[in-house]
Amino acid sequence: MAFDVEAVRSAFPILQRQVNGKPLIYLDSAASAQKPRAVIAAMSEAMEGSYANVHRGLHTLANETTEAFEQARISVARFIGAETDEVVFTKGATEAINLVAAGLGAGLQAGDEILLTQMEHHANIVPWHFLRERLGLVLRFAPVTDLGLLDMDALAQMIGPRTRVVAFSHMSNVLGTINPAAEIIAMARAAGALTLVDGCQAIVHETVDVKALDADFYVFSGHKLYGPTGIGVLYGKRERLAVLPPYQGGGEMIAQVSEETVTYADPPHRFEAGTPAILEAIGLGAAIEWLNGLDRAAIAAHEASLYARVIDRLSGANWLRVIGEAPGKGAILSFTMEGAHAHDVAQILDRYGIAVRAGAHCAEPLMHRFGLTSSARASFGLYNTEAEADAFAEALFKTQTFFA
Ligand SMILES: Cc1ncc(COP(=O)(O)O)c(C=O)c1O
Repeated sequence: MAFDVEAVRSAFPILQRQVNGKPLIYLDSAASAQKPRAVIAAMSEAMEGSYANVHRGLHTLANETTEAFEQARISVARFIGAETDEVVFTKGATEAINLVAAGLGAGLQAGDEILLTQMEHHANIVPWHFLRERLGLVLRFAPVTDLGLLDMDALAQMIGPRTRVVAFSHMSNVLGTINPAAEIIAMARAAGALTLVDGCQAIVHETVDVKALDADFYVFSGHKLYGPTGIGVLYGKRERLAVLPPYQGGGEMIAQVSEETVTYADPPHRFEAGTPAILEAIGLGAAIEWLNGLDRAAIAAHEASLYARVIDRLSGANWLRVIGEAPGKGAILSFTMEGAHAHDVAQILDRYGIAVRAGAHCAEPLMHRFGLTSSARASFGLYNTEAEADAFAEALFKTQTFFA
């Protein structure tokens, strides 16, 4: 299957719009990706054609909506190589990590160690800090090299007899580094530690097979995967979910409730208290099915070529510092411009219709590691083109003249 970027672009209505009188060049997909018509249609068709609450009704609309919602779970499970009952719908990756941390925390004690890395998003740091504050757990951070690689020797040294969980990002949202997840998981398992993989960025760019990885938990958000906001996924091995305490209480997550006692439903429903994000789950299912119709290896090659093209165009720019140069990295370019604040760079690029992110990218420990408080970040998605890559590089040269 050849990758036809123009055909892909035509599936995204928003790419037709202008920004500041210029065609939109959207280079902020790592923060949140745009949505194809298939997702928009699936959600509005559900609202227009068959909508009701799920799991609890006996009428036709309730049954149809429940079927559509559970079909989305099947799509997710197939997409990551999981069993259907190993897929928990959450509000996003952040909620999924909080759910796991809170549940595992119930079985941990002071002095137990959680091993993270210096390149984690705050979503995979702060929930563990909660446990440090409440239980006296110790957080350790595996270092990152100057090139932006995880220091695997140091990581190996840091896994010890008190390590209970190794939680790490599969792909950095700042550096674009793709971490050797299977290797890290094997090391953790050999030491008797559980693993949680933050797959928010990686799942967008590569095929993920949770069984091949052998992760205990794997999390991601829908909105970076061309799906809607308000929906995310927690994959947990069946035997891990079976012993994880519930996170929130309410309807749908119980087996029985009396005045004296409560018993819980089996996973995944045990972790889905209250009315779930029905439309958003249907939208995520549609995003996945839409992606399944494309050649994902060709998408990855397309994105890699865009990144290489921009780096090539910027090769003479001695005022530019690239943060993250790991071999085989994904198409995320974090950079600083000499004499310019990242926010100013982003605002000037916006005048050219170019959307990039600027700030600490919810990764302050990583920014400190590189001696920065902020950077600008251009992140490429499957709909970006070579012409956009060239326009971005050209706009950076023009932006630089404001600060020279
Ligand atoms: C690597 C990584 N982890 C976690 C998150 C948090 O995702 P969400 O805000 O959708 O819960 C993000 C979002 O930027 C991310 O890039």
